[in-house]
Amino acid sequence: QAHLKKAACARPGRTVRFPWCLSTHFYTDNWENVQNFQARPDDILIATYPKAGTTWVSYILDLLYFGQTERQTSTPIFDRVAFLESTISPMGKDLADNLPTSPRLIKTHLPVQFVPKSFWEQNSTIIYVARNAKDNMVSYFHFDRMTRTQPEPGEWSSYIHRFMEGKMVFGSWYDHVNGWWKKKQTHSKLHYMFYEDLSEDTGREIDNLCSFLGLSRSDEEKKRVASGVQFDNMKKDDTTNYSTHCAMDFKISPFMRKGKVGDWKNHFTVAQSQQCDEDYEKKMKNSTLQFRTEI
Ligand code: A3P
Repeated sequence: QAHLKKAACARPGRTVRFPWCLSTHFYTDNWENVQNFQARPDDILIATYPKAGTTWVSYILDLLYFGQTERQTSTPIFDRVAFLESTISPMGKDLADNLPTSPRLIKTHLPVQFVPKSFWEQNSTIIYVARNAKDNMVSYFHFDRMTRTQPEPGEWSSYIHRFMEGKMVFGSWYDHVNGWWKKKQTHSKLHYMFYEDLSEDTGREIDNLCSFLGLSRSDEEKKRVASGVQFDNMKKDDTTNYSTHCAMDFKISPFMRKGKVGDWKNHFTVAQSQQCDEDYEKKMKNSTLQFRTEI
């Protein structure tokens, strides 16, 4: 079984090129089934560009809905929250179909236009999390280094350009955050959150989530959740730190790496930062989205 798991996660993932992105077969092999996924009205879809804080928000929702049960302490987060389009063990769509919870927590990195249509038909709740481009880029770079299912990142200096060109698994960050932001303007069951806000005041963001979801939780319960999802707590918890996941090599980098706003300053040279800012201005000039790169 362990051997099979290893083989299923071995690098290199076969590269798949879509007009909108470069992907690996791990996220496209089940495309038709994923597109035909049957959502339910009480499903909660957690949508993000990779490395924007998916696991953080997943765990917040998991604790808000289900508390600290036996399931929490024995089942890894990637078996509690189904990664819909993933074919890496566990197979996301099958896991989602069979989740025993209500609501089902399902995560996706798909750009808004590729979300299975049943989520819109069923008017399911959606939580989108966005993170500023520079920190997102740094986090993705280290993830690509340590995850066997992602393409090799190459040098940091060239990675920045690939990111700006949108030649990434799950496509352009700029299109992703803007596409979902536009959808939020017309879809009332979509809550758009920012990693930086969560980092600044987790308690406030949990309050906002509870209001949006119509959840009444006592102050004590909310405090417990805020404390449980602190970086250090999630990092030492084997059910949330991904240490048991088959595709990751922690000798290269941990999944729970730094968890900071502004770590990009340790990676970008002044020239790289300027180039990125100029490109950002052009790509985001028609957007009303505002990101913070420091708090
Ligand atoms: P870094 O690589 O910058 O440390 P995702 O879950 O979308 O893959 O995102 C992973 C990123 O979110 C990583 O960022 C990880 O450390 C960070 N993260 C996860 N849980 C966090 C928490 N509780 N507090 C702060 N950052 C967290």
